[in-house]
Amino acid sequence: MTRPTPGEERRAAELRRVLAQANHDYYVLDAPTLSDAEYDLLLRELQALEHAHPALRTPDSPTRRVGAAPASALAKVHHHAPMLSLANAFSAEELAEWEARNARINPDVPAGGYTTEIKIDGAAINLLYEHGHFVRGATRGNGVIGEDVTANLRTVEELPLVLGGRGHPARMEIRGEVYLSHQAFVRLNAEREREAEPPFANPRNAAAGSLRQLDPAITRRRRLRLFAFHVQVIEGRLPAETQWEVLDLLEAWGFPVAPHRKRHRDLAAVQRAVEGYESAIKRLPFDADGVVVKVDPLALQEDLGVVGGREPRWGIARKFAPEVARTTLRHILLNVGRTGAVTPYADLEPVEVGGVTVSSATLHNEDQIAQKDIREGDEVEVMRAGEVIPQVLGPTTEARERKGRHHPWKPPTHCPACGTALHRPEDEVIRYCENGACPGRVLEGIVHYAGRDAMDIRGLGYERVKLLLDERLIRDVADLYRLTPAQLETLEGFAAQSAKQLVAAIAASRERPLSSFLFGIGIRHVGKSNAQLLARRFPSLDRLAAASVGEIEAVPGVGAAIAQAVADFFGHAGTRDLLARLRDAGVDPVEADTVDTTGPLAGKTYVLTGTLPTLSRKDAAALIEKAGGRVAGSVSKQTDAVVAGDDAGSKLEKAKSLGVEVIDEEELVRRVGR
Ligand code: IVH
Repeated sequence: MTRPTPGEERRAAELRRVLAQANHDYYVLDAPTLSDAEYDLLLRELQALEHAHPALRTPDSPTRRVGAAPASALAKVHHHAPMLSLANAFSAEELAEWEARNARINPDVPAGGYTTEIKIDGAAINLLYEHGHFVRGATRGNGVIGEDVTANLRTVEELPLVLGGRGHPARMEIRGEVYLSHQAFVRLNAEREREAEPPFANPRNAAAGSLRQLDPAITRRRRLRLFAFHVQVIEGRLPAETQWEVLDLLEAWGFPVAPHRKRHRDLAAVQRAVEGYESAIKRLPFDADGVVVKVDPLALQEDLGVVGGREPRWGIARKFAPEVARTTLRHILLNVGRTGAVTPYADLEPVEVGGVTVSSATLHNEDQIAQKDIREGDEVEVMRAGEVIPQVLGPTTEARERKGRHHPWKPPTHCPACGTALHRPEDEVIRYCENGACPGRVLEGIVHYAGRDAMDIRGLGYERVKLLLDERLIRDVADLYRLTPAQLETLEGFAAQSAKQLVAAIAASRERPLSSFLFGIGIRHVGKSNAQLLARRFPSLDRLAAASVGEIEAVPGVGAAIAQAVADFFGHAGTRDLLARLRDAGVDPVEADTVDTTGPLAGKTYVLTGTLPTLSRKDAAALIEKAGGRVAGSVSKQTDAVVAGDDAGSKLEKAKSLGVEVIDEEELVRRVGR
């Protein structure tokens, strides 16, 4: 065995650093900086170096770890057995090599047969069941220690809380994957955009982020789904002899099992099926990134064991190359959003990626542009996966080495729409134009104000708002209310009838509730649900404007950053002037109906007592109120139910003496979910 050269040592250290950073970005921040393909390539390079020179294999090498250490406010959970990851095979040859390696360990492998399943591209989970009851759920974390996401998983409707069928081992961990459908992902990102939050890069990150929410009510709204594929017995016996039977059992117990699973007598049959999988996967309503091939007999699986505490020998992921194309990055353009966020995007020479013509793509943010050294004029690789917005992976090697390349791209210092100096808050990768009168922001802001979830002004879309601004008929939303049919009729695209209709729609928006107004007026961090929470507690504009940061923060579900943003908004002289002009125009919204009459707890009064197992008191109150219920401080005959946790005291006694129903957190979560 040769000693590593200094060059190899440096390269290994560099790979360790890059991979560790990528793990952190992926697992902790839910914001991947490398594509899967790039990550796999670098990991393989490091594995090869370590294989050739075991001295390079440091204890903290990313090749030894499954993911990054968990870092969040969620409680830590020790998995009973490590959560494994799978090695990848990118070709038929690599799959054949895998079988050959296994056959050297146990010659019965090739004749044992295989089960194949699609590889769901979501977030791995570990579900502990005791005597058929769901006890705890955790994320993978670093494979050994994960995060407790039990309360969030309870909101996943497909997860069986009590198992059906029979033959459950007394204690076991069910391994599976939570994921978001393309539809749910697109909807979630549209919502985030409306709420001025950065969109998720792909459904997998959206699923991982949703799973690690601190508020289960948010997780519920994300509509996470689930597939189970593996059973780890802790105590008891599993009545199955093959992976195929395990999947049957999982189904009988009530778990969703991914479609398209197949059983094969030998590897040749697996190889023949791979192509069919590739086209089946393209038609799935969710992301899948390959086929998992598993040695079918469980006895053989056990015999084969695990490599380096990280990957089982009995399974391998046969991956397909993602859809990637090369094209020229013509320009890096900037978009100004209504919150003032100035984000770069790629203007591309149109190119076909996976059957769709792509001419623009996301570049994420300026840090990524710098990190990947993306420059205007470069030949770049563009990837499109599923329904996700196409993304620029980076320049091709040839482009990087080209002479006469453009200079590195410089992030804007000033707003492209108004010229104001941009501000990049600490801890953020986005620059903001803070000029409330910026024409770019004003345009997007008025379009948002007129939107369906805001003031719902039908017939006032992007083009018309732009026209009204260009014609100087309006400067801001207050001016809308002074428009007359006569003014509009003279404009292009309007007739007598449509002019009257628009004026009527604008007038009708005066009746919209305060929550819609608060959402529409555009306060940083205030999306639809926060607007509702605020409007319920402070049902008029005056009440909210007069509230202190502390009072706002005391609203269940409203955090410090939101409270500060609301107070800053009302403290701003420009805002006060705008609100005064709106009021003169007859816009003085109130929240008449402060109870969600359609929620599952509509009209019900609940009392909280004791310490709940996973929810804080504030979170539990937020859940109840979001479901339309009311939280009272003391128990009376009017109380519908008491939610009791550990160390519940006199309120519990009183509930019992009055015959008021007492429930636990699990039941509460179940009720708010209906
Ligand atoms: S079996 C002990 N089967 O892919 C379980 N994994 O890179 C070992 N995955 O951690 C994995 N679909 O989160 C298996 N049908 C499937 C899968 C699957 C998705 C995920 C899983 C695993 C990762 C491995």
